[in-house]
Amino acid sequence: MTELYQVTGNPVGHSLSPRIHTAFAQQCQQDLVYRALQLESEEFTETMQQLLRSGEIKGSNVTVPHKELAWQLAQQRSQAAELAGAVNTLYLNDAGEICGDNTDGSGLVADLTNNLGFKLEGARILLLGAGGAVRGVILPLLASGVSQLVLANRTLSKAEALRDIFDDERIVVSCFEEVSAPAYDLIINGTAASLTGDLPPVPASAVGRETLAYDMMYSRDKTPFCGWAEALGARSVDGLGMLVEQAADAFYIWHGVRPRTAELLAELSAELHQID
Ligand code: ATR
Repeated sequence: MTELYQVTGNPVGHSLSPRIHTAFAQQCQQDLVYRALQLESEEFTETMQQLLRSGEIKGSNVTVPHKELAWQLAQQRSQAAELAGAVNTLYLNDAGEICGDNTDGSGLVADLTNNLGFKLEGARILLLGAGGAVRGVILPLLASGVSQLVLANRTLSKAEALRDIFDDERIVVSCFEEVSAPAYDLIINGTAASLTGDLPPVPASAVGRETLAYDMMYSRDKTPFCGWAEALGARSVDGLGMLVEQAADAFYIWHGVRPRTAELLAELSAELHQID
């Protein structure tokens, strides 16, 4: 019987997740329909409980702004979800409990490692921002053996709070203006600054020719962060690969098979960035 899956958020109309999961399902020969369902925050918990417990849906991805509500809804959480404080993948276990996982961080690591050929082990990383998006990727980055993780944020106290949560001696906290030289192996922009066309005021000395600049946002046009890094001679990439890889990890959790991602990522990237 055809199973129903979904992504929920608000807004969610432009989400690429239905397209991504439908392509994965074709590739892996899974009989499913994947829809986008927009929910207000007030109706999220009750509606999701009903949909999952009744079996009407088999699983749901959760996007902005409901990831924290999904965390609260989950009766069982993976370690990644627990520390991220956010859930992006929901499903029911055999005991009928609502389970929550978070594949954003593993998606980022998979994109960096498998698609971009970046070696995280031993890398010095500058992570910009201290909101939900950044909190979700800290554990998988630390688990990949990075040598240093500098957390820089406009509001320093939020970066300090994250350092206390993760309690790892490789985490260093800084304000943007004072991030320490020399150039980083990887700079990840996890701030919402790109949304308003802003750029975190990081000194140019943080960027070198060998630096990979990674914006967790994706957009048709180059983000201000990617443009800034490229002007300083670095290679830059946006978060489209992370989106595809977090979907692949959610697909694996639900179906027990991990789809190939390279072809779909190339196709979406060509469309989004309008490369012929
Ligand atoms: P998300 O879930 O996308 O992470 P969030 O939790 O609201 O959203 O966090 C947004 C992050 O972007 C924060 O780190 C925020 O900095 P503050 O903690 O100082 O608010 C950062 N941010 C938003 N707009 C920014 C800007 N114009 N310049 C720099 N940082 C910005």
